[in-house]
Amino acid sequence: MSLISRISGTGHFVPPHTVTNFDLEKEMDTTDEWIRKRTGIKERHYVKPGTGSSDLGYQASLKAIQDAGINKNEIDFIIAATLSPDHYFPGIGVLVQSKLGLEHIGALDIRNQCSGFIYALSAADQFIKSGMYKKILIVAAEVQSTNLDYSIEGRHLAVLFGDGGAAVILEPASKQENRGILSTHLFSDGRHVQKLWMDSPSPKDKPTFSYQIIDDKRCYPKMEGKHVFVNAVEKMPQAVWAALECNNMTIDDVDHLIPHQANDRISLMVAKKLGIPVPKVIRNIDRFGNTTAASIPIALDESVRNGRIQKNDIVVLTAFGSGYTWASALMRW
Ligand code: UT7
Repeated sequence: MSLISRISGTGHFVPPHTVTNFDLEKEMDTTDEWIRKRTGIKERHYVKPGTGSSDLGYQASLKAIQDAGINKNEIDFIIAATLSPDHYFPGIGVLVQSKLGLEHIGALDIRNQCSGFIYALSAADQFIKSGMYKKILIVAAEVQSTNLDYSIEGRHLAVLFGDGGAAVILEPASKQENRGILSTHLFSDGRHVQKLWMDSPSPKDKPTFSYQIIDDKRCYPKMEGKHVFVNAVEKMPQAVWAALECNNMTIDDVDHLIPHQANDRISLMVAKKLGIPVPKVIRNIDRFGNTTAASIPIALDESVRNGRIQKNDIVVLTAFGSGYTWASALMRW
């Protein structure tokens, strides 16, 4: 029997501590008005020191496992997506595996930043379709609040990011039912690495860690905001069009668009380019900020749990970010 894969459980977890734009006003030279007008963000969640991406991912995983109604020991593979792992190495997949107390199953880490969840979903989809694995835990989590540049130079980026984690369980579904992942499309353009990146720590530096690197601020994420904005607005619709064409659909067939929550103005411009009505666009950046790899699965989990996404709805995901990488996934829920 030929297989497709479907998401059978979702979960998300954000740290309880909320940081509003007004809180940021006290820490740096910014205003609530600037942040809301330029990004749509009102607040985001920050971890307390000592909490890593693997902790957020672990909590989200417990919820996804419960939602799928499976025993955690049925999970036979883990794929983790993050740009902010607890350690330089190893990745967080193995940390989530050990926190869950799972057997010696494989754990793969994906380094595709804002597109990380869709890349992970695509990889998991291939493993399920090939029959290699039957219950894959995909976990996406970020802790970004602990390394932001609050100076004038870094404030455009510092106000965007939030911390959070989300997880899904992917399982085989029968093709006759035709519910599940219908396509994934992955793209990259490495010419633009330096438009959105964190240069250090880099083994190219000897020594890798030095006060000079900190003084030069090479240890902070850096972004050429306008370049990223223009490319995001161009590439996310292209990824969605690729998905629609592959499935012989038009934008009118789509019930929900979940764009990576990078900036609400980007989400609205992507919607306009695609010609999809705004009420069909899932937007929660006002409450979470940009949680990078976790943003799409957080929005997915919220929308499933609050009943906005219903059985058989057509859902399209799209993301764009550092790399550059961009992607789409189309599914019948
Ligand atoms: O998830 C990964 C992908 N990331 C994205 O998709 C983000 C894409 N980029 C963006 O969303 C936008 O570029 C930002 C929201 C990050 C920045 O908006 P912008 O319109 O590109 O602002 P800018 O950096 O060009 O700055 C415009 C002005 C400057 O002042 P002057 O030179 O006009 O006087 C900045 O100094 O706004 C100032 N500014 C701020 N003012 C208050 C920049 N950041 C802030 C701030 N608070 N936080």
